[in-house]
Amino acid sequence: MAVKLAVDGGTPVRTKPWPAWPIWGAEEEEAVLDVLRSGQWWGIGGRYVPKFEEAFAASQDAKHAVCVTNGTAALEVALRGLGIGCGDEVIVPPYTFIATASSVLAVSATPVFVDIEPHSFNIDPAAIEAAITPRTRAIIPVHIGGRPADMDGVLDIARRHGLIVIEDAAQAHAAEWRGRKVGALGDCGTFSFQASKNVNAGEGGAIVCDDETVYDKVWSVHNVGRTRSGKWYEHHVLGGNFRMTEWQAAIAMAQLGRLPQQTEVRTRNAERLTGLLSGITGIMAPPPDPRITRHAYHLYTLRYDADAFGGHSRDEFLAAMGAEGIPVSSGYVPLYKEVVFARRSAGEGAWCRSGAKMDYTKVQCPVCEQLCADGVWIFQTQLLGDGADMDDIAEAVGRIQSAWTQ
Ligand SMILES: Cc1ncc(COP(=O)(O)O)c(C=O)c1O
Repeated sequence: MAVKLAVDGGTPVRTKPWPAWPIWGAEEEEAVLDVLRSGQWWGIGGRYVPKFEEAFAASQDAKHAVCVTNGTAALEVALRGLGIGCGDEVIVPPYTFIATASSVLAVSATPVFVDIEPHSFNIDPAAIEAAITPRTRAIIPVHIGGRPADMDGVLDIARRHGLIVIEDAAQAHAAEWRGRKVGALGDCGTFSFQASKNVNAGEGGAIVCDDETVYDKVWSVHNVGRTRSGKWYEHHVLGGNFRMTEWQAAIAMAQLGRLPQQTEVRTRNAERLTGLLSGITGIMAPPPDPRITRHAYHLYTLRYDADAFGGHSRDEFLAAMGAEGIPVSSGYVPLYKEVVFARRSAGEGAWCRSGAKMDYTKVQCPVCEQLCADGVWIFQTQLLGDGADMDDIAEAVGRIQSAWTQ
């Protein structure tokens, strides 16, 4: 019998809701009330910000953490703290959230986009090497969807060329590369605690590092240029007020407590889903990499081959999945295509005008463009369900394929 898809008026695979997000309980409630009643709402002199900094650093195998307002600020503070500025080039992938590259512009440096790998959605070390110039100062690998980038490749290039490495780990809480958590594998790493992230404080961010000097520098920038040992009205460098509040830290602390168990559930479900999807031609699930000892699964990223689905486009597939009760997303567009990069000021090499001429309208990263055209995202919250939820996802994919190829 012909399969009638929900998009054509058939019965959807599921109508059951997906797990609600955020997940919270007595811990979050008590922590917020504790902050409220204490009257100490400010991070300076507070209890939760230092406690969370210590706990978060430890949870990412780092010596230090500095909490800030959000993940965008974390990148800017890290770049400024490490002395990146006017005339410097910073290598970034184009398959990421705007902040990875806009933070580079915000410190008057020039983002240089290099292509990604087709299997991992992450920066391609071979492309980094080819983009290095005498102005290159840093690389920002992004652990997209919580899948660690090839840090062997990135760190090897950085060492050989004397470059700074700032990991954008906004999506990669608890992710591990060769048994070590991401974040402080390079010079420092940045995280986000924005509402959709695997650790959610509404908004929030952190910079983690091992090196005491990097810690001091980043700390200064986040606290209006003060030094950790200096006086209150003593400002040594140009900083800003990027400080986190006690409210954010209290919620983040409680959420961090939930992370190990939630990461287990996401991993278990992602592995089940990969098994189920491996039998479906035209769907490429994330391939394993033995060097990735923990994927954070902020996103489950697929690639879709229209040829195996009767020539139906990726966007038709997204609509059909949505109708079956499985919300999925097309994900990013190549970042260099955003209008901000085509503007004259950016075209002339960052706002400071002393960088390399960079015409972003001429940038081409073919792998990224392909993945933006055929990529599909499943969200971390969907991975917090049970095995039957994963079965629904696979069933919807299979049903759509049957309908379109029969
Ligand atoms: C890869 C990446 N970098 C940076 C950020 C910025 O974090 P925030 O939203 O907390 O400013 C995000 C958040 O979406 C992100 O996904």
